[in-house]
This record gives sequence, C-alpha cells and structure tokens, in this order.
Amino acid sequence: MTTRAIAVRYGDPSAVELQTIPDAAPGEGRVAIAVRAAGVNPSDAKGIAGAWGRDETKLPLPIGSEVAGVVTELGPGVTDVAIGDEVIAFRVRGGFADRVVTAAANVFAKPPALSFEEASGLLLVGATAWHLLDATGVAAGDCVLVHGASGSVGRVATQLAIVRGATVVGTASERNADAVRALGAAWVPYGDGLAARVRAIWPDGADVALDTVGTDEAVDTSVELVADRGRIATISAFRRGGEAGIRLLGGGPGADPGSAVRAAARQPLVDLAGAGRLRVPVARTFPLTEAAAAIELASSGHPGGKIVIVP
Ligand SMILES: NC(=O)c1ccc[n+]([C@@H]2O[C@H](COP(=O)([O-])OP(=O)(O)OC[C@H]3O[C@@H](n4cnc5c(N)ncnc54)[C@H](OP(=O)(O)O)[C@@H]3O)[C@@H](O)[C@H]2O)c1
Repeated sequence: MTTRAIAVRYGDPSAVELQTIPDAAPGEGRVAIAVRAAGVNPSDAKGIAGAWGRDETKLPLPIGSEVAGVVTELGPGVTDVAIGDEVIAFRVRGGFADRVVTAAANVFAKPPALSFEEASGLLLVGATAWHLLDATGVAAGDCVLVHGASGSVGRVATQLAIVRGATVVGTASERNADAVRALGAAWVPYGDGLAARVRAIWPDGADVALDTVGTDEAVDTSVELVADRGRIATISAFRRGGEAGIRLLGGGPGADPGSAVRAAARQPLVDLAGAGRLRVPVARTFPLTEAAAAIELASSGHPGGKIVIVP
C-alpha cells in the first residue's frame, strides 16, 4: 500500500490529508520509487490554492513534484534504470508519498555526495534558475542582480551565474546576508533605496536582473538598473513584469514555460551538484504526517532554504 498526502479541497494547506491507496504497478517506460525525501516548493501551496484551476473532478489532488529515493520496480521497456538505484526524480506527480511511479525519463542517478534530502530539492529550483540564466543570456563578465538571492531559486541562480563567470549582487534580508556572501555574491538588503544601494556597487547599473521575488520593487528596480529589458526576467511578477515588457518565465499568464530548456537542464544540474559546485541547502525536514506544516513553511516567503518531507 502507498501512503500519500493529498489535498481534499482547494484552499489553504489545512486541506491536506493522508490517504492510503493500493500500489499501482509501473506501466510501459515507468518505474516505482521508494521515496526517501520529497522537496517542497511554494508551487505546492499555489496548486492547492487553485492557482492553476479549481477543477473539482481532479480532487483529491496529489501533491509534490520532486523526490529522491530508491528504485523498487521497473515497468516494461525500462533499460537504463535498475532496481536498487538511488535516484532523483523530477517532474513527478504526487511526490509527497512513501512510493511514487513516474516515467524513467524523469529519473536521474543520485550523486553519492548528496543526501536524499539535499537531492530531493535540487531539480525544480535548479531548472527554474537555469531557465532564468538561459533566457537572459548570462555570460562571463556580466553584472547580474538577483532578487531573492537567499531563496532556493535565487541561491541556485546566483551559483550558476558565478559558474558562468558573472559577478552577482543579491538581495536578501539581513539575517541571510552571510548566506548570500557565502555563495560568492555581494549582499544588499531589499527595501526602500534598493536601486541606490546597487548603484553604490555598480554606478552604471547591471547587465542582467533576475527576479525570484515578484514584488513591484524588484521589477521597478530591475527596469531602472538594466538598459535591455530582454535581459530582465521574472518567475513571479507576471502582471507588473508584463506591463514592464520584461521576460516572464514559468507557469504564469503570458509566460514562457521553457519546458525543453528546463528538461535539458536536469542532467547538468545533477552533475554540478555531484561535483560540489552547486548546493541547495535544506532548512528543515518534516515527516509526511506534517505535510501541511511543511507546505505552509515552504510558502511563507522566508523558509531559509529547502523544506523537505521525509516519509
Ligand atoms: N515561474 C516558475 O517557473 C517558478 C518556479 C519556481 C518558483 N517560482 C516562484 O518563485 C518564488 C521563489 O521561489 P523559491 O522556492 O526560491 O522561494 P523561497 O525559497 O521562499 O525564497 C523567497 C525569497 O524571497 C525573498 N523575499 C521574501 N519577501 C521579500 C520581499 N518583500 N522583498 C524582497 N525579497 C523578499 C526571501 O528573502 P529573505 O528570506 O532573506 O527575506 C527569499 O530570498 C515563489 O513565488 C515561487 O512560487 C516560480
């Protein structure tokens, strides 16, 4: 039997309950994974809230897009994954569970250097950050402003930009200043006067701005500091960003989902993390029985790192 967390209605995380269902056998090209850890993202709360529709026929709603675990069963036609492999899987459906079935094409070998907890939170934020850099063409020598450099997407975007040879200024709250500096970026606090604080470091402004926060301040400051609006991207400020004519990325209205870019980014992200060049630190773990609390903290705006469910 599989135990999983599901949302029984659209609304806040109090809609999350545990459910036990018979194990589904993996079909053609699919594998079953014993989940050791599942990454929690703000999008999990958004899905429960109905941000992508409130189709009552989809209830109960499986939750959780990424896991790390051990392969336990292979469906017909699977040749490149073996039973017992320690793996990362993204994107999956219903990852907040002790067992998940997914396409073998979404499964990657877990580098031994990563714990299951670390591995489970790597790919959703990693692929998003990769898309941000790709869409804005971040290259060696660029001055890149990252809004929310202490967040999970922001931390990866900062590290990837530095790997590409860019220089990064990252915004964050004061309590996360050292975390941003530890990535190799300069830290500035967000809030009134942000543009002036960035200009104190870069008098000519920035070449690129990446917004992972979604505030008007992040969009407006980016537009003030970056001359080319094609080199400003947001994953959250779809209305303000659309008005400003900057790049909108992900699942929001009018945004570029970047499905191919994100899918292709998964293996290089796993390789970078395995080589110790990319870290997605875990702030806190929760048991599956506390999935609602995990989702609440992950969507608080200040989780301080990845939130992970350990079933
Ligand atoms: N479109 C897509 O494809 C896509 C994909 C993934 C995520 N997202 C969205 O992107 C956002 C970030 O995701 P995440 O996982 O990185 O979240 P996260 O880990 O919670 O990071 C949030 C970041 O925002 C900062 N922040 C919070 N309030 C702020 C404010 N008022 N002004 C400036 N910065 C503020 C936080 O800084 P401090 O904690 O230091 O205060 C932190 O750096 C979420 O809204 C998520 O849903 C979109």
